[in-house]
Amino acid sequence: MATKQQTQTPPSETRIIAIYNQKGGCGKTTSAMELGGTIALRGYKTLIADLDPQQTATTWNGQASDEQPFPARVTNLHAMGPRFTNEIQKNVGDFDVIILDCPPAIASPIPWAALQIADLGIIPIIPVLDNVWASKEAKEIGLRAQREFNPSLQLRYLPSLVSRGRLFDHCMKVISDDPDISKFKTSISRRNAFPESQAYGATVHALASKSLAITEIENLATEVLELLGLPQRAGQAATRRKK
Ligand SMILES: Nc1ncnc2c1ncn2[C@@H]1O[C@H](COP(=O)(O)OP(=O)(O)OP(=O)(O)O)[C@@H](O)[C@H]1O
Ligand SMILES: [Mg+2]
Repeated sequence: MATKQQTQTPPSETRIIAIYNQKGGCGKTTSAMELGGTIALRGYKTLIADLDPQQTATTWNGQASDEQPFPARVTNLHAMGPRFTNEIQKNVGDFDVIILDCPPAIASPIPWAALQIADLGIIPIIPVLDNVWASKEAKEIGLRAQREFNPSLQLRYLPSLVSRGRLFDHCMKVISDDPDISKFKTSISRRNAFPESQAYGATVHALASKSLAITEIENLATEVLELLGLPQRAGQAATRRKK
């Protein structure tokens, strides 16, 4: 967690990731839950804060059984509005990694507050034209947060729900060519395993012992840990859920 002018946050070893974008349905919550769960399975104490009134992360977590809880802790802070940062500060020190799942509303104060306390801002983006157009606002507030309050904030695009075709290739190139924000090497493809894992209150690790979805999310976790300066750790196998 970086020291911030506005919030006077004391420095700590907890790493905070804000997952945000103006666009709805671009994979913010899926990235928050799958990445947060995967980092937790790597042995990092991980908290996911649900900041969205839709409460998707909270409901996803609620699907888990007591015997097989979701690998990361999920807390519902949406009702606190931008004051959620007070609650996060109380939890700093108890967790290695905190992930903030923002609502699809750049104009709300929530993504802005999240970017002021984050070490990494992830912008999930589907490589289609409307998502590329809408990412301008996400880019602007990320760069503004970096400039005005949080110079150590890192920003990355995460291509999400990626499918095949010329339009996807074109939009991937537009995202890659952005001179201000890099994209992760890993893309998250459109795969049934991601929405299916919601039904079990789990990550994709619980659906099959080997799958391309697991490979993608593990590759993303590796990149994220590297960016955050955290050592790579081997993942624990999650127990496969019974259908
Ligand atoms: N990689 C994927 N493959 C297939 N389906 C996906 C994938 N990622 C997300 N989805 C589905 O797409 C929809 C939107 O995903 P998600 O809820 O993660 O987006 P969001 O950006 O959090 O949405 P909102 O803006 O409403 O909060 C959901 O139905 C989700 O299950
Ligand atoms: Mg969401």
